[in-house]
Amino acid sequence: MSEETPTSLPGMMFCAKQHIARVEAVRQMARDTWAVKIHAPELAASITPGQFFMIRPATGSDPLLGRPFALFDIYCDADGKPAGVEFGFVKVGKLTSLMSQWTVGEEVSIWGPLGNGFPIPDCRHLICVAGGIGQTPFLGVAREALGLATYGNPARRIARRPESVSLCYGVRSMNYLAGIEEFTIDGLDLKIATDDGSFGHHGFVTDLLKLQLASNHDEVHVYCCGPEPMMKAVAEICKQQSVPCWLSLETPMACGFGACFSCVTKVVEPDGSWDYRRTCVEGPVFKAEQLVL
Ligand SMILES: Cc1cc2nc3c(=O)[nH]c(=O)nc-3n(C[C@H](O)[C@H](O)[C@H](O)COP(=O)(O)OP(=O)(O)OC[C@H]3O[C@@H](n4cnc5c(N)ncnc54)[C@H](O)[C@@H]3O)c2cc1C
Ligand code: FES
Repeated sequence: MSEETPTSLPGMMFCAKQHIARVEAVRQMARDTWAVKIHAPELAASITPGQFFMIRPATGSDPLLGRPFALFDIYCDADGKPAGVEFGFVKVGKLTSLMSQWTVGEEVSIWGPLGNGFPIPDCRHLICVAGGIGQTPFLGVAREALGLATYGNPARRIARRPESVSLCYGVRSMNYLAGIEEFTIDGLDLKIATDDGSFGHHGFVTDLLKLQLASNHDEVHVYCCGPEPMMKAVAEICKQQSVPCWLSLETPMACGFGACFSCVTKVVEPDGSWDYRRTCVEGPVFKAEQLVL
């Protein structure tokens, strides 16, 4: 059961709410990688792919600040109604170490949905490019693009469903591959690269993108999430081929709702100068050409 606080956080642009909710499941997905399900029906009914939520323990002050996590997917109850959200994470520091030890029934504080998310697909061919845990937003993106799920309230509708949807997913080594079962869905062309050659293509995920674009870059859109150098490389490849590309930034965030300016990124202005934008409210998804990378 999730218990909702009646107040919305100040400054919200996306009708986000704070919930005290319970952990429903914890599972290890891959090396140093876990997935957690949180019972949060209202959040599950409103969040869209590429949006995120902030999360922290419901009690105590260590850590004091919540941390941002992207939606992996929503899950439904026996009546088919959205019941909660699942997210995947890599253990890197304080909260993620704590979360890997969370057990069913644990109370957590979660607020969202936050950020803009990926645009509704509007292209003939959609290529998602993920590096490491940057794969998490693409389950929802793929399921929505393939017509297997709807997200948001009211539900987002795709006017023009892509003829093909692919995911190029790169990790250091096969032990880090997370969510392969989930990504094995009808219609999704899944291509894998590992830096050490232990699975799939031996090399960087950008090689897979180049191969995809070599066979067709007509009316292709690219959505990308992963480490900064990889996103920079993806943006450059897309620029060279005049392929529209969107990047989801993983800028560290303190509040998640626009108040603290800890998450700013440089964005190009129409006159060629640049200014800062808050990743939490004006992102995390930006058109690659907007960013000063
Ligand atoms: C919109 C958004 C969505 C995200 N989605 C996911 C997700 O789905 N799964 C996931 O695993 N992670 C995701 N992240 C990153 C995640 O928020 C961080 O890994 C998390 O905050 C680490 O918290 P921690 O308390 O464990 O680490 P901390 O103790 O806060 O930090 C540990 C170390 O990691 C570094 N660090 C912390 N955050 C980041 C970051 N964002 N980039 C680079 N270094 C960082 C710190 O500098 C420090 O060295 C997302 C980030 C954003 C902004
Ligand atoms: S995280 Fe506070 S303004 Fe973005």
